[in-house]
Amino acid sequence: MVLSAAGIRFPIWAQAGTSVAGAARLLLGVDYYPDQTPEALWEEDSRMMAEVGFTNVRIAEFAWALMEPAEGKFDFAWLRRAVEILHKHNISVILGTPSAAPPPWLMVRYPDVVEVNAQGERLHPGGRRFTCPTNQVYRRLSLSIANAMAREFADTTGVIGWQIDNELTLSSSQRCYCNFCQAGFQAWLRSKYGSLDNLNKSWGTVFWSQTYTDFSQIPVPLPSGGDPNPGLALDYDRYQSYANVSFQEEQLVMLRKTCPHHFVTTNNVGLPLDTIDLRSLYEKLDFVAFDNYPGFFEMLLHQEANGPISPDTIPANIALGHDFARSIKGGKPFMIMEEQSGKAGQRTFSPQPEKGQVRLWTHQAVAHGAMGVNYFRWDTATFGAEEYWHGILNHDRSKSPGYVEIKQAVGELKALGPEVLNSNYAADAALVFDYDCSWAVKIQPGHHALSYMAQVTSWYGAISASHTGIDVIAPGADLAPYKIVFAPVVYVLSEAQASKIKSFVQGGGMFVTNFRLGVKTESSQIVRTPLPGPLRDVMGVTVADYVPIYSAKQGVKFSSAFAGPDGQCGIWADILQPSGAEVLGSYTSGEHAGEAAITMNSFGKGKAVYIGADLDAGSLSRVLRTLSAMSGVKQPFDVPPGVELTLRKSGDKQWIFLLNHTSVAQTVSIPKPLTDLLTKEAYSGTIELRGYGVRVLS
Ligand code: GLA
Ligand code: ZN
Repeated sequence: MVLSAAGIRFPIWAQAGTSVAGAARLLLGVDYYPDQTPEALWEEDSRMMAEVGFTNVRIAEFAWALMEPAEGKFDFAWLRRAVEILHKHNISVILGTPSAAPPPWLMVRYPDVVEVNAQGERLHPGGRRFTCPTNQVYRRLSLSIANAMAREFADTTGVIGWQIDNELTLSSSQRCYCNFCQAGFQAWLRSKYGSLDNLNKSWGTVFWSQTYTDFSQIPVPLPSGGDPNPGLALDYDRYQSYANVSFQEEQLVMLRKTCPHHFVTTNNVGLPLDTIDLRSLYEKLDFVAFDNYPGFFEMLLHQEANGPISPDTIPANIALGHDFARSIKGGKPFMIMEEQSGKAGQRTFSPQPEKGQVRLWTHQAVAHGAMGVNYFRWDTATFGAEEYWHGILNHDRSKSPGYVEIKQAVGELKALGPEVLNSNYAADAALVFDYDCSWAVKIQPGHHALSYMAQVTSWYGAISASHTGIDVIAPGADLAPYKIVFAPVVYVLSEAQASKIKSFVQGGGMFVTNFRLGVKTESSQIVRTPLPGPLRDVMGVTVADYVPIYSAKQGVKFSSAFAGPDGQCGIWADILQPSGAEVLGSYTSGEHAGEAAITMNSFGKGKAVYIGADLDAGSLSRVLRTLSAMSGVKQPFDVPPGVELTLRKSGDKQWIFLLNHTSVAQTVSIPKPLTDLLTKEAYSGTIELRGYGVRVLS
């Protein structure tokens, strides 16, 4: 193709379905429900979607009952007609396999496929996402409908790719505890540990007389007088994650064989959910696809917080989700499969986004590495549980306020083109997100208010305020590309990870962590050496005591390195005993007054920082941003509060994204003359961003 001659390599999803002109097709579309729409409207819908500039739709992920009205009786005629009409309007199709919501006939014939929740109660049909990931009958039936769809549409012009299932991370009870899962767990343990002796030793089952003499004796962690063995409980989280990955794998293997020229992905909500290890789930898929609902998320936070939340919370949380999506496949551009386009919610819903927000949220995803965006959804359902999850057309099919913005955003992303949308994201800093730590802290938090996810989110918020680009990496990831690596609550620490951290610091990197460091082995036993266990030498300290804080007040006095007001210590304090490390903060009250709270150790050519105190948000932000600067991470240029700056690169080209998350106009000083690719206007000195405004500069 012309562009490949220019040396621009397009990923598989851009090769499928070239447009008439031969140019690579972008993934800028909408989630469409012909299964819920009178057929007489399909032509008009397709014409209007083409008018917006959409290149594709995602369809059929909730249409099992229509595609298989009775077991083994398939009807794809309606779907084929819809695909043909869409294709006539040059709109490609991503087909969804429908295993997220089985038809009623299946539930009556195979009632055992439902999940059993953490209380041991069997869920009931009637909603969606209520089936067991291990159940072989459900797997067979899910594969059978997906296989029938694949054989039907493998060579259908216009079909370009697949979404397997829908939001596996959002299962109703997050975990299934049924008999099928118990048997699956036991088989998984047998292949992981090989022998019962090895398992009993790893878990320490001699405690409370739980020594197993047969794998079939091993329970799932359902309510039992006393907490489960931490090793068993952590392995069960790992098994349930694996069960979902292998459930998806069955459909993936079939699609690779039946539709080799189609791309395959699945859509999910990433952080703050930790249900499934998404690095495993997306490993064999072509790209990551996430769902993004900033307004809905804000409503949820209000409901949780039961009060006001600080204005920068949402943009930072959403940015964390995007950085995680991008980092899952090592920086590969990702897609937003569902982008909020209007009011969002089910029983309760969020208000219409303010003018400019839908466009802003679209560009924020691209600013963090997205290569494609599909909006949820084309029209607004007038029946079913999501009547209030508004689409681009209102209930009466009039255009919603988001219509104009979305049309503008689609046009702008087309103008930016594949080179920008496929470019890399610049990040000199990394934040570690570790599923094992998230699960192990949930199993034994030590303090009821300690949440690994909350720590990761608050650290991200603090670090991202310096707009220096952050990858959200796995514990075993290569650290060499980064100047500074942040890793809060490294509760479970493997020898392999410890040695990676050691060589990173030795090589000149800065490693920053906080309390509960290195407490647990991979099988969730407590290390038998003084804390922080395998990293004692790197951190240059010993933990003299670890203190969950309930009523006692504790503060931190900072050394000149972090010059500023004393900090507050929240729910936890690791009391540090330096053995070579410099003290950068000390506790101020109680029996630990004067003892070390924050230390920095020079190790090899690098630095290792231990923040023993659970710092208040203001102090945490100051400390982490100071450490970023110390590590040599630089922000391209300053921006006012409420404005986000990110950088994407390709070869020696770079694009600066400026995003105004406030409703008021902002002025940004720019270091050199730059052109806004969205308006084609040149600027020097300063540039204006109107409320919720966006600039893409180069
Ligand atoms: C999720 C699901 C969709 C729909 C939207 C709106 O992300 O994937 O099916 O439910 O949210 O709720
Ligand atoms: Zn189950």
